[in-house]
Amino acid sequence: MLQSLDPGSLLAFGATAIPPLTAQIVYICHSKTDDGLRLALRQGHLLSFSTAMTSPNRILVLFAHPALHKSRINRQLVSAIADLEGVTINDLYEEYPDFHIDVKREQQLLVDHDIVVWQHPFYWYSSPALLKEWQDLVLEYGFAYGHQGTALHGKKCLSAISTGGTPDAYRREGYNYYTITELLAPFAQTARLCGMVYLPPFVVHGTHQLSDGPEIGDRAQDYRTLLQALRDDQINWAALADRTQINQDLSQILLTPEVAPHA
Ligand SMILES: Cc1cc2nc3c(=O)[nH]c(=O)nc-3n(C[C@H](O)[C@H](O)[C@H](O)COP(=O)(O)O)c2cc1C
Repeated sequence: MLQSLDPGSLLAFGATAIPPLTAQIVYICHSKTDDGLRLALRQGHLLSFSTAMTSPNRILVLFAHPALHKSRINRQLVSAIADLEGVTINDLYEEYPDFHIDVKREQQLLVDHDIVVWQHPFYWYSSPALLKEWQDLVLEYGFAYGHQGTALHGKKCLSAISTGGTPDAYRREGYNYYTITELLAPFAQTARLCGMVYLPPFVVHGTHQLSDGPEIGDRAQDYRTLLQALRDDQINWAALADRTQINQDLSQILLTPEVAPHA
């Protein structure tokens, strides 16, 4: 369910910096749970703006975290992008706590955006269950693939994940044996089958060792910088070909110096 709100209503939800409004604002996070922390986050930050598009790309973040009240990483990542124009955050566990996904709504959201982000913590080398359910139901034959299933063709797709494991763990000699690229193959191939371009993933590794202050803050700032650059087409797309992760030396792929991330 989408709700349109006027600027005054939006302020009532705690938005602090509202850009000049030239088009309808879409408020997309709803509270259907009693999760107090989730509600607090929503009131503080989980607002998304779809204003008149002056940017080339509209970004849809499909956010899947089943226990946001315990999150140290993803809550900061999602907070860091919450006020970006042209970025819509679709909080799946907030929207569908009973797993009853509104397929038509989700498909319309996909149609309305140019870049799709699957943001989640890495759980058992994959995503939390609701994102898999979303893929199973929303990426229908005839919509996302198969005969006349061309709705997603040409869009870009990004996985944005956090892992408890360190980079060293994700190699042949490490305790996870497989690389992140190998483990994300089902996501990459799902995007590919749907005609999307799957970008190298944004990965926050070693989450248990990151301190709450600047270390997580830097990752969150990088995520914001990346989404701004993707939205504004300020990415050296050719340079992505050699990468296994999009946020390694992020500044090297940005075209706009003023949005360069922390050192
Ligand atoms: C059910 C579950 C499964 C997990 N599986 C993995 C895994 O396969 N690989 C890994 O590196 N970390 C794994 N972790 C650690 C999480 O990825 C890590 O705690 C999370 O990315 C931290 O983000 P958050 O603070 O937003 O929750 C798992 C954690 C849980 C609760």
